[in-house]
Amino acid sequence: PSKQRLLVVANRLPVSAVRRGEDSWQLEMSVGGLVTALLGVKEFDARWIGWAGVNVPDGIGQKALTKALAEKRCIPVFLDEEIVHQYYNGYCNNILWPLFHYLGLPQEDRLATTRSFQSQFDAYKRANQMFADVVNQHYEEGDVVWCHDYHLMFLPKCLKEYNSNMKVGWFLHTPFPSSEIHRTLPSRSELLRSVLAADLVGFHTYDYARHFVSACTRILGLEGTPEGVEDQGKLTRVAAFPIGIDSDRFVRALEIPQVQEHMKELKERFAGRKMDFLITLFVLLISTTSACNPESGLLVMLGVDRLDMIKGIPQKILAFEKFLEENPNWRDKVVLLQIAVPTRTDVPEYQKLTSQVHEIVGRINGRFGTLTAVPIHHLDRSLDFHALCALYAVTGAAQSLGAGAILVNPWNITEVAASIGYALNMAPDEREKRHQHNFMHVTTHTSQEWAATFVSELNDTIVEAQLRI
Ligand code: G6P
Repeated sequence: PSKQRLLVVANRLPVSAVRRGEDSWQLEMSVGGLVTALLGVKEFDARWIGWAGVNVPDGIGQKALTKALAEKRCIPVFLDEEIVHQYYNGYCNNILWPLFHYLGLPQEDRLATTRSFQSQFDAYKRANQMFADVVNQHYEEGDVVWCHDYHLMFLPKCLKEYNSNMKVGWFLHTPFPSSEIHRTLPSRSELLRSVLAADLVGFHTYDYARHFVSACTRILGLEGTPEGVEDQGKLTRVAAFPIGIDSDRFVRALEIPQVQEHMKELKERFAGRKMDFLITLFVLLISTTSACNPESGLLVMLGVDRLDMIKGIPQKILAFEKFLEENPNWRDKVVLLQIAVPTRTDVPEYQKLTSQVHEIVGRINGRFGTLTAVPIHHLDRSLDFHALCALYAVTGAAQSLGAGAILVNPWNITEVAASIGYALNMAPDEREKRHQHNFMHVTTHTSQEWAATFVSELNDTIVEAQLRI
């Protein structure tokens, strides 16, 4: 049987474009969790619709970029600078993102935001309509249209207005907050109603799905059922679909000569400084079978994050400082390598975060550094997939995984510092066991499975809805 056609609609395409000439473009892999996860939708005949991260005001450029993207099965939505400013920087990343992550607006921004709110929300709706127009141009009967994330909460409604038979799913890649938080949005009802136009609404966790359903019951007065939300006999199915990664891609990468070369270089570099490898992403832990005690050399803790408030980078660094403070014997034996990928750099809160992190890193390196070494290596940049794989491979990588990981409350610096100590001093067999557990989980809960489950649930939901008529 031919593969199910799938239109994946997300604000950001998996490739971002850099202009090289009037009609020439270079495409680079985009960063972020959503893109990484969606690379796993290989089982479908999939096309991507989204923004290429660049303003293209002229026809020649638009035509050339459309052509270049088509080779990657991507279809661009062209957003001009003003729309990007109001919709992406403004409504998406200055209002929805912090709100959905329970990060209140700073006092001084609150009134300013209240004033600019309406025009930003209008731009948000306009941008969503532009996405809908492009979807509509490329839609064929029977396609599944899968909309992603907080940028596109208005899209399900726009699509159903075009064609009520379209199979529409919407998935949120962030938390959905408690209804008490959601109700503080001026556009709280409109957003919920537009999302409810979808046939299936998905979240990463059961808690987020439950928050969404109670927002609909408390704010809109609709009926919540175990299946989802009901409005005058029409059901919107709501469910949790925990995401994964394309684990094969990482495993395969280890065979690529370029990655092996990177690994060799890293090992040599670190070996010169008598390093022994360990560790870690934030909440997390680690894998390696090498012995790990302060006598055996220098250990590397690895953090890879977009430079975003929600990643807890300052908290992590402060916990590391506390750990160094309390454990003088570890001071010249462990380094924290933090890759902080710049992101949303036009949004003021992100600019503030960058300076804040630089200040803390500078202070700690000043405090614990020596003439030849510093405890924190902080890089404001992205690394390509191969370089990242090599780093993960030589340091070992982990996820926030139930029994395998060491889970911490990132707001409690004392607890995080103690957990760092626990991880660093862990016996090799415990480390090995935890790694096995994590590895099993990651390789059996993949993004392919996640996408397949969501799409088949969406198809079932529609069949069931037809049976009920
Ligand atoms: C998060 C969001 C994604 C977003 C990514 C990168 O993972 O859920 O929708 O694409 O961050 O952020 P950016 O603003 O650069 O697309």
